[in-house]
Amino acid sequence: MCGIVGYVGPREAEPILVDGLRRLEYRGYDSAGLATLTGDRLHLRKRAGRVGELTSFLQEQPAPGCVGISHTRWATHGAATDTNAHPHVAGTGANQVAVVHNGVIENYSGLKRQLEAEGIVFHSQTDTEVVAQLIAYHMDGDLLAAVRKVLKLLKGTYGLAAVSPQNPDQIVGARLGSPLVVGVGEGEHFLASDPSALIGYTQKVVYLQDRELCVLTGEDFHVYDDAEARVTTNVQNFDWDVGDSDKGGFPHHMLKEIFEQPETVAAAMRGRLDESDQTAHFGGLNLDPQQLRQAERVILTACGTSYHAGIVGEYLFEEFARMPVEVEYASEFRYRNPPIDRNTIVIAITQSGETADTLAALRESKRKGHRALAICNVVGSTIAREADGGVYLHAGPEVGVASTKAFTSQVTVLAMLALFFGRARHLSSLQGGRMIEELQALPDAVARALRCNDDVRRIAEKYHTATTMLFMGRQYMYPVALEGALKLKEISYIHAEGYPAAEMKHGPIALVDTDTPSIFLTPRGSVFDKVMSNLEEVKARGGPVIAIASEGDPRAADYVSSRADEVVFVPDVPEYLQPLVTAIPLQLFAYHTALLRGCDVDKPRNLAKSVTVE
Ligand code: AGP
Repeated sequence: MCGIVGYVGPREAEPILVDGLRRLEYRGYDSAGLATLTGDRLHLRKRAGRVGELTSFLQEQPAPGCVGISHTRWATHGAATDTNAHPHVAGTGANQVAVVHNGVIENYSGLKRQLEAEGIVFHSQTDTEVVAQLIAYHMDGDLLAAVRKVLKLLKGTYGLAAVSPQNPDQIVGARLGSPLVVGVGEGEHFLASDPSALIGYTQKVVYLQDRELCVLTGEDFHVYDDAEARVTTNVQNFDWDVGDSDKGGFPHHMLKEIFEQPETVAAAMRGRLDESDQTAHFGGLNLDPQQLRQAERVILTACGTSYHAGIVGEYLFEEFARMPVEVEYASEFRYRNPPIDRNTIVIAITQSGETADTLAALRESKRKGHRALAICNVVGSTIAREADGGVYLHAGPEVGVASTKAFTSQVTVLAMLALFFGRARHLSSLQGGRMIEELQALPDAVARALRCNDDVRRIAEKYHTATTMLFMGRQYMYPVALEGALKLKEISYIHAEGYPAAEMKHGPIALVDTDTPSIFLTPRGSVFDKVMSNLEEVKARGGPVIAIASEGDPRAADYVSSRADEVVFVPDVPEYLQPLVTAIPLQLFAYHTALLRGCDVDKPRNLAKSVTVE
C-alpha cells in the first residue's frame, strides 16, 4: 500500500510531487523518493524514512525538471532502505527508465532469474526493480510500447508510473488491482494513487480501470485498454478541499477525527431518514422493492475495523430486520467458497474502498450472481465503482491510520439499513418512527460522550505502562470490545484482546493478574447483570478494572463504581446504539496511551491506511 504521484506540465515538478506524497503518506511511510527529467537527464532522489527525510535531502540536492514521478512506500519486498526505496532506475544514459509501483509482482523472482541470466545486475531486493529492468530491456525509443510489452509478463497487482529521458515530456501509468487516477489540469496533468494527493492542484480526475494504461504530457493525456484501443474517459469532480485533510488545529489527525464524530454521524444520516414512511432511504443502494423483499440472508464482509462494524451490523439486522446474517473476514471469505443461497445479499464494508481482500470478496460474490453492495467512505474508489449499489459514509477524508470516525459512521449506516430492511418486512411504522427519533438524537449523544476525554487521559496515565490488556463486552458490546482492543494494539503496540465477556472463563482469565488491566463495557441493558458477574470474576483475581457505564443509571453509578477501579460514564442511549457512544472512550484511551508511550499516533509502525495487497 504505497502512494504514487506524477506531474508533467510547465511548473517545477519537485514541490508538487513532494506535496502529493505528504497527503498520501498514510498509505505507507517507510521510505520515499522521486525522479525528475530535464531533457535527457534523469534526477533520482530517494531516502529511507518519512517524506520529511526526503525533503531534507532535496534541500541539499534539489531535483530540477517539469516532469517527474514520486513514491512513498509500505514495504512488501525488501527492508526499508535507501536502495529499496522507489523509484527504481534501470538502463543507462538516455536508455534509463525510472519506475514507481504500488502492489505486488508475484512472479518477480522467476523474471529476475531470467534477466540475471542475461547478465543484468540487480541492486535492490524489491519486486519493483524487476519491472524497471524489464522496461529498460525492452526500451526502443518508445516508453509506452516498452511498458505494454512488460505488463504482459507480470503476474500480480500494480499501480505504476514510469518516465524515461527517451520520452522526456511524458509519464506512462498503468493499473491492475491497485488504484490510480489521472488529474486533469490546464496545460498540465497529474497521476496519483488517490485523488487526495491532488488537493489544491485539480479537482478533475479520471479513475483508471484495471488493465488500463495512460500516457500524460503537459498538453494532453490518453488512456488505452489492454487491447491498445483508446478509451473514452469520464472526467469526474472530486469535492474534497485543502481544509478537509489538514489537522484543523488538533495535534493529530486521529484526535481531530475522533472529535469530528458528532458531525460525521449526522452526515451519515443527512437526507436519509424518512419521517413520513418511518424508514430510511438510500439514493445509491440500487435495490428494487422486489430484490429488497426477496433477500433472505445478508453476508457482511470486511477487514479490520470495518469487520467489527459488520459484527454490530449482524446484531442490528437480526434485531430489526429479523434476517440471518453472517459476518465474514474478507480474506477468508474470498477463498473459502461457502455455499450461499441464491437470495443472499453481500455487503462489503470498507472505509478506503481499496482494501484488496474486500475487493476480491465483492468480485467473487458478483461472479456468483449475488447482489453485491458496498458501504464505503471514499467516493469513486474501486469497491464503490464495482459494487452493484451502496451507501457512502460522507465522513470526509480519514487520514489517521487507526480508523475512528469511519467506524461510527459505518455503524450508523448499518442501523439505518436494518431499519430499511426491517420496514420492508415486519417492522411497524411506530417502531420505525421510534428508531428515527433515537437515531436523530445520536449526534448530540456522541458530542456528550466526547466530554470523557480528560477522564480517559487520567486513566491512560495510570495504565499506559501495561503490557497486556483485555477488553470485555456482551451482545452489542462484544464487537466494541474487539474494536477497543484493535485500536490499542494498532497505535500503542500493547498486546490487547477483545472477548465476549463470558468467554473469559474458558481461558483468557488465565491472563488476569494485578498488572493486566481489563476494560469492561457495562452500559445499561439486557445483559448488565451478566457482564457484571464477569467483572466480579476478574476483580476476584486482583485484576484492575476500568468500566464504561451509562450516565444517569443509579444502579451503575453505585454498583459499577463500587467494583471497578475506574469508571467512565457515557450518555445513556438505546442498547442497539450504545456502540456509537462506548467506542469513543476506547478510541480516546488508545490515543492517550499511545501518546504517553511516545508512539506515532497517526502513522503507527508497520501499518498503512488502505491495504491494497492481499
Ligand atoms: C483500522 O484502524 C485499520 N486501519 C484497519 O484495520 C482497517 O480497518 C482495515 O484495513 C480495513 O480498511 P477499509 O475499511 O479501508 O477496508
